[in-house]
Amino acid sequence: MTVLHGDCLPLLKQVANESVDLVYLDPPFFTNRSHSATTRDRNQTFRFSDSWHNLTEYAEFMRLRLLEIHRVLKPTGSVFLHCDKNANFLLRVLLDQVFDASQFRSEIIWFYKRWSNSAKGLLPAHQTIFFYSKSDAFKFNTIFGAYSETTNLDQILQRRDRDEDGISSYAKSADGEVIYHHQKQGVPLCDVWEIPFLNPKAKERTGYPTQKPIVLLERIIELVTNENDLVLDPFCGSGTSLVAAKLLKRGYIGMDESVEAIALTQKRLANPEKTESALLKKGRAAYENADKQALGLLAGLDILPIQRNAGIDGMLRDKQNNLIPIRVQRPNETLAETANALIRATQSKKISRAILVRTQKDSSLFDELELPAMLLVVNSTALEIEQLLEINSLGVTV
Ligand SMILES: C[S@@+](CC[C@H](N)C(=O)[O-])C[C@H]1O[C@@H](n2cnc3c(N)ncnc32)[C@H](O)[C@@H]1O
Repeated sequence: MTVLHGDCLPLLKQVANESVDLVYLDPPFFTNRSHSATTRDRNQTFRFSDSWHNLTEYAEFMRLRLLEIHRVLKPTGSVFLHCDKNANFLLRVLLDQVFDASQFRSEIIWFYKRWSNSAKGLLPAHQTIFFYSKSDAFKFNTIFGAYSETTNLDQILQRRDRDEDGISSYAKSADGEVIYHHQKQGVPLCDVWEIPFLNPKAKERTGYPTQKPIVLLERIIELVTNENDLVLDPFCGSGTSLVAAKLLKRGYIGMDESVEAIALTQKRLANPEKTESALLKKGRAAYENADKQALGLLAGLDILPIQRNAGIDGMLRDKQNNLIPIRVQRPNETLAETANALIRATQSKKISRAILVRTQKDSSLFDELELPAMLLVVNSTALEIEQLLEINSLGVTV
């Protein structure tokens, strides 16, 4: 397996015709700036330039390399070209010209959550990966995902057929019995992929600018190659695609014109390190750990549920747009315990008021008197009614 230093154009010319199963390329995106980043220990800064005189120059740079990529791919091979809004329109046209528009397979949207935006406008949260094949005989391994929560059991188990008018319905046998679909393994992977960006503390992060996550590359490699197939990355940077290929027992060839990138790639290949994405492993639902019973009590309020803070159930906004945390007393909590949890959670957050919903009638008055003034205590409807019934049973008229 090889990692080669130099401009990928002459290097690609040395690769044999129809010898590669997958080319993944993550070239400069036509951002017209220089990219740099520093390792966590601050010992090394990596840089690469993405500055061009104009779009024509960039287009010619990419066209020449795509021609070579087309030549080295096997008839069963595919290319995955990573780009973004800066030049995706141009690269799509170039791919159509070099691979033929009939070989376009997918425009994959790699989507990730981001939290802030320095520029005016919509928060950019995706990149594009174009998938083209060399021929219709391209290798493809379908990946299945989980059904959505809204899929009903019939949709999963029963086969559907179309009648002569093209109307789809559940298939029935001659004697009117439904036909079960034993082969369904889940939902085939779609073309929008939510994969988190590497967080700044991820072990996998090398400090190389624009480094991609290994899990993203693993997914691409698994889709169109099998064990012992050959993956080539002509702009390998920190070597992410090669590390993914190695972990999946594929062969690999990497190229980069930066000598530091080549050294880093070799270091990573000698000791591959991958960060598991907790989001991908456990699914988004695993983060939804807000107390459902507590939120149920707050139904009807325009509340933002808080998933990752044990002291706050949700946030409300007052007329001045101030955020007000709210917490419902749990069945096994005293009022003081609920108040403490809420106060702890709001400390250092510049919050001047919080709402506590009391659900238990046996909290002593003493508890309430001790509470700080920033806490507004209200009784739950159930508690109010319970107290009302108690007063009534003592013979007081309401
Ligand atoms: C977007 S980065 C690749 C990042 C990589 N996918 C990763 O995960 O680390 C683009 C890379 O292309 C390299 N590069 C730019 N022009 C090149 C050329 N003509 N031949 C080979 N590499 C080149 C840069 O040095 C840079 O490492």
